[in-house]
Amino acid sequence: MSEDVGRIRTREDYRAARKHSIEDPEGFWAAQAERFHWHEHWNEVLEWDFTKPDVKWFVGGKLNITENCLDRHLEQRGNKLALIWEPNDPKERFVRLTYRELFERVCRYANVLKHHGVKKGDRVCVYMPMVPELVIAVLACARIGAIHSVVFCGFSAQSLADRINDAEATTVLCSDGMFRGAKEMPVKSVVDEALAKCPTVKKVIVTERVGWSVQMQEGRDVWLHEEWEKVDGNCSAEVMDSEDPLFILYTSGSTGKPKGVVHTCGGYMVYTEYSFRNVFQYDESDVFWCTADVGWITGHSYIAYGPLLAGATQVMFEGVPTFPDAGRFWQVVDKHGVNIFYTAPTAIRSLMAHGLDHVLPYSLHSLKVLGTVGEPINEEAWHWYKTHIGKGRCPIVDTWWQTETGGILISSLAVVTDERPSHAAWPLPGVQPILVTADGQEISDNEVEGLLCMKFPWPSILRTTWGDHERCRQTYFSHYKGLYFTGDGAKRDADGRYRIIGRVDDVINVSGHRFGTAEIESAINEAKGVVESAVVGFPHDIKGQGIYAYVITEGPVADAEDMRGRIIEAVVAGIGRIAKPDKIQFVSGLPKTRSGKIMRRILRKVAENELNSLGDTSTLLDPKVVDEIKEGRL
Ligand code: WTA
Repeated sequence: MSEDVGRIRTREDYRAARKHSIEDPEGFWAAQAERFHWHEHWNEVLEWDFTKPDVKWFVGGKLNITENCLDRHLEQRGNKLALIWEPNDPKERFVRLTYRELFERVCRYANVLKHHGVKKGDRVCVYMPMVPELVIAVLACARIGAIHSVVFCGFSAQSLADRINDAEATTVLCSDGMFRGAKEMPVKSVVDEALAKCPTVKKVIVTERVGWSVQMQEGRDVWLHEEWEKVDGNCSAEVMDSEDPLFILYTSGSTGKPKGVVHTCGGYMVYTEYSFRNVFQYDESDVFWCTADVGWITGHSYIAYGPLLAGATQVMFEGVPTFPDAGRFWQVVDKHGVNIFYTAPTAIRSLMAHGLDHVLPYSLHSLKVLGTVGEPINEEAWHWYKTHIGKGRCPIVDTWWQTETGGILISSLAVVTDERPSHAAWPLPGVQPILVTADGQEISDNEVEGLLCMKFPWPSILRTTWGDHERCRQTYFSHYKGLYFTGDGAKRDADGRYRIIGRVDDVINVSGHRFGTAEIESAINEAKGVVESAVVGFPHDIKGQGIYAYVITEGPVADAEDMRGRIIEAVVAGIGRIAKPDKIQFVSGLPKTRSGKIMRRILRKVAENELNSLGDTSTLLDPKVVDEIKEGRL
């Protein structure tokens, strides 16, 4: 089968592929790219210059990614299940869509978009819960060449507005409301609130999910099910340049507001499919389930695109792991015969804390491969996952990657390469990581620790940050000349496996979600009575990292609970419920250097309860403040 080209099935294949990819990267990636449907072949495989940065893959190639996700499969897999959608409430019927059905829906949705004036290059913001229409909407945008910007439904109206405005989106796709565990939550009204500040938006297309009556603004808002009837089901795909933007996804960095990471059509397609098939060792009859939300990069690459590009059958889940009880994941695995299960360490830790009573009723015998993503997995959680979910027989792929990398860069390949607890392990063939010292010297030995960089591009590397290329250069390509800097620290063991330690910048990873400290601080500072704040991460048993805020208020705090409530409200309004601080300590001052820079190192140590290793505090403007902070530690 042509699809077996480039498939890495043995350790020898892995070694050979890695060697090939280093000696002849262009030949290596061209062979992968050949397997797709292109309207026009590329002229050059790669052009790159990390100093600008300027990276182009499959230059001059023309394609549409949805033809590769859908049309390409119709002949062989038209009746194969593409999507098994499992609703929030297990009592509600699940939905199954074959490749043909999904294709037809995407075409129809694409026609709805066209009918409402959406064109190639327009930005469409998608703010929807995990319903099938979310994936359909994303693919419909790609079908007509509109650039989708999916915003996770846990973000507030303010965050949504910021993202819509940054991208100058013309259209918003949303639902009336959403189910989340035992709760029903609004979606459309959040959009309405955001749109009061978004002059570029002309249309809102609303999917009915909870059946709420919502306000529909005449001339702007329409119901999807009504529009659906007005269009037909044929929609030819827009022919896109390999380097045309496919989507924008906003992510947090150490400074300023979240930035719009831009991925393009050709390289992203090739890399997500390649990494999906090889990391998970997907075989034709397997059922894959990634529990991430499409609002994050994991859901883009390993729900919306990678599995469909590979012709896979996948489960998409609307709900949460603990509803109706903490056995829900395992019940769904048994119900749909899931073979490959991909989730986040935070979910594993939380289910582990609920105990084995929620695991033992399920057989889990269909499982073949387990995966994790988004944050380091501690050894205890790794062993629990291996023993109680994988029953000791399933390999675990600990996949390291980023919104900016588009796909998994470091991971063992299931069964093929070996695993080690808490180690993402091996670079995928085609990926060239290196560790450098703080001054940018490459560390070539093993059994070392350093800053993780990439010295050669891979097809799904970010191309720019929307509307601000200089920010992209500064954030990722200016620290170390000629290298892409990940922002992560890592170790390399004696055999060459990588172990990711975590962020070395001011990014906090809460339950696998990235937040910049500056972003949280500016939300906190909006609370009435707050003068200044500083936020750091601290180790949290379930979330990986929790958010610890030090806050200076105007005058003494009379009612601490009330003040904390106001601060939390400000964060929920500014960012969303997912960024609520876990601890808020009121302080009279912050440890600052004479030049006014906050010494976060000290705050981090206090939050981590490492009070004896604060280091040198003599350079502080007011060293006494440290004693107060230590005493008031929560
Ligand atoms: C962290 C998520 C350890 C890392 C796909 C990275 C990980 C950030 C792992 C990106 C892993 C991701 N082990 N840490 N397997 N995977 N990370 O953009 O710090 O939401 O820089 O992408 O998550 O988060 P993002």
